[in-house]
Amino acid sequence: MKTNRLSETLTEALNDQMTKEAHAAQIYLSYAAWADGEGYGGIANFLFRHAGEERNHMMKVLEFILKRGAKVKVVAIPPPAADPSSVSNCFEKVFEHEVDNTSAIYKITRMAFDEGDWITYNFMQWFVKEQDEEETLALELLDKIKIAGGEKATPQALYELNKELEKMPDEATLAEDVTVDKP
Ligand SMILES: [Fe+2]
Ligand SMILES: [Fe+2]
Repeated sequence: MKTNRLSETLTEALNDQMTKEAHAAQIYLSYAAWADGEGYGGIANFLFRHAGEERNHMMKVLEFILKRGAKVKVVAIPPPAADPSSVSNCFEKVFEHEVDNTSAIYKITRMAFDEGDWITYNFMQWFVKEQDEEETLALELLDKIKIAGGEKATPQALYELNKELEKMPDEATLAEDVTVDKP
């Protein structure tokens, strides 16, 4: 009896996404280690927490593939890219990475739609919402470093930014969740 309810194409795409989320975790991990090495403990903390979040995404995809009765393929994770050259460069790379991941999520969502696989389509909506959050968060980081002076940020401005990121939540408030009482 066939219990697999995931198409071959979606199984492959979801397995790839699982590796992509693991790769994202490695990227954040490497940036966090870089930031800590540069003395930015607050920025490092934020990035370390985010690496954990990406790993949770990986697990979420893995569990979904299994739940649908399909085969999980755990493969090697590509190495993260080179270390950032500055805090400004680091935040730019984070933003680019999130936008790139959003396109990958869109592709799978489109595939599920075209196949009429509404369970996978519905599952993907969680990731669509998550990417909205992650892009917002990445943009917030870019805004913060821009205000601090971008590539020309002074040590004093970087000191303040580092302190702020120590306490910054690693989840963004979505515009649609904002109310008058909860701005
Ligand atoms: Fe993710
Ligand atoms: Fe992400």
